[in-house]
Amino acid sequence: MVRGSEPSAVKALAFFWIQERVVTITHTYTRCRMKTWQGKWAVVTGASAGIGKAFCIELAAGGTNLVLVARRRDHLSELAAMLSPRHSIKTETCPTDLAQPSGCEEIFTFTQRKGIEVDLLINNAGFGA
Ligand SMILES: NC(=O)c1ccc[n+]([C@@H]2O[C@H](COP(=O)([O-])OP(=O)(O)OC[C@H]3O[C@@H](n4cnc5c(N)ncnc54)[C@H](OP(=O)(O)O)[C@@H]3O)[C@@H](O)[C@H]2O)c1
Repeated sequence: MVRGSEPSAVKALAFFWIQERVVTITHTYTRCRMKTWQGKWAVVTGASAGIGKAFCIELAAGGTNLVLVARRRDHLSELAAMLSPRHSIKTETCPTDLAQPSGCEEIFTFTQRKGIEVDLLINNAGFGA
């Protein structure tokens, strides 16, 4: 078979095989980096969906305790209930509307009241694509 004339199905399979390896390596690297925050507290805004939720999942896998912030209380509770037992981490949910002027103050007061010393802030809340 002349090089470059492989059937497209073979090319597609080779592409997916390589893509899968790249994703696995990237994922392993990210998990290792996330271990930096093991046992520390992170506040993640926009934690109920999308990128913020993905950050929570990765941080939890690395052993980071989480304060989950967004408006949808049920989504936050569901995520907290999933991550806490799975990774033996502490989670707190702080339903807050960050479009309100009092939003940041509410999170600050919440963490103070709970005696949480925040080591990491992922300020991600906003409109998605
Ligand atoms: N996706 C992209 O391609 C892309 C590209 C560049 C930048 N970004 C930025 O990355 C961030 C996340 O994007 P995404 O795609 O993950 O968005 P997404 O899926 O729409 O999620 C947005 C998150 O922000 C929360 N949120 C929205 N308004 C809020 C408010 N007023 N108060 C508190 N929480 C609020 C939402 O939760 P509730 O609805 O429960 O409040 C949700 O958890 C955004 O800031 C976006 O601008 C995204």
